[in-house]
Amino acid sequence: MSELEQQLQTLRVEAETALAGCADLAALTQLKAKYIGTHGAVTAVLKALGRLPKEDKPRVGKLANEVKNTLATAFAARQEELESHISHLQSQMDTTLPGRRHRLGRLHPLTQIFEETVRIFRRMGFAVEDGPEIEDEWHCFDALNTPSDHPARDIQDTLYVDLPPHAKYGRYLLRTHTSPVQIRTMLRHQPPVRIIAPGRVFRRDNPDATHSPTFHQIEGLYVDRNVSVADLKGTVEFFFKQLLSPDTQVRFRPHFFPYTEPSFEIDLSTPHFRARGKEWIEIAGCGMVDPHVFKAVGYPDDAYTGWAFGFGIERLAMVQYGITDIRLFTENDVRFLEQF
Ligand code: DAH
Repeated sequence: MSELEQQLQTLRVEAETALAGCADLAALTQLKAKYIGTHGAVTAVLKALGRLPKEDKPRVGKLANEVKNTLATAFAARQEELESHISHLQSQMDTTLPGRRHRLGRLHPLTQIFEETVRIFRRMGFAVEDGPEIEDEWHCFDALNTPSDHPARDIQDTLYVDLPPHAKYGRYLLRTHTSPVQIRTMLRHQPPVRIIAPGRVFRRDNPDATHSPTFHQIEGLYVDRNVSVADLKGTVEFFFKQLLSPDTQVRFRPHFFPYTEPSFEIDLSTPHFRARGKEWIEIAGCGMVDPHVFKAVGYPDDAYTGWAFGFGIERLAMVQYGITDIRLFTENDVRFLEQF
């Protein structure tokens, strides 16, 4: 077998293999050009026939034509196959159908309250602070003037978790309020301190329409020289009027918290709440930071005063939006969420 015949056989096998793996029309056109186009490899052999000895010409010429024709037929067949596949796909596609709309999501109602609260307090020069949801007993209770035999610890006891080996501050638990963020902030910063701390908290509660073992609070803390109860009342009143409506009324009732002295509970009333049948809703605890707390974080005696507050946002959102079941906040039902 001559060298040209050998070459033709190789080209045929090569072209047929390439064709078998060819999946689109563009690639097919390229293959065709490579083998049987004007500058193709098989065409080149046909052109070289003239240089062969006379007795070889008919045999090799016959083979060359055979290879060229076989390939041309195979290319045409493959082209037809690919084209019919495309037109089949097109026939299955209804281009007159309306497009699929991407539904835009919304912020969760509690996130909206968080963000609005942060916006209002930022304008008054407050920074946002954060703390861990798994907190140690010292930050959660002791430093907040709540010793281990204090009854407030029983009603707030949540889930205790195993001590990490490096634990310095007693046992760890799911934090029962955002107040430990006050401690963490004061340990890191000297006054003036002006912060709010939104976050998730946990309680030992059986879930029902108005109780949830997990909910959210926003803590506030302001420490400087000569901070007074008047600052507390003014700030809280301004904040709730901004958040809810200018005709919001705010009422302070004496109360007790271990970490503030004096302490108050804050009630709110708005025409909107009253229309929903709620005269006053109890929304927050607050007071003037107890000197024991300053002592725990190492602030100098008598140099500073400060106020703190903490309020739960689920209750506020429920009255504001007329939500009757607290569990709706965590069920992730779009029919609920898309209403806000
Ligand atoms: N930590 C309290 C609670 O979980 C709320 C609270 C009361 C926060 C008084 C404060 C405060 O900062 O001063 O119910």
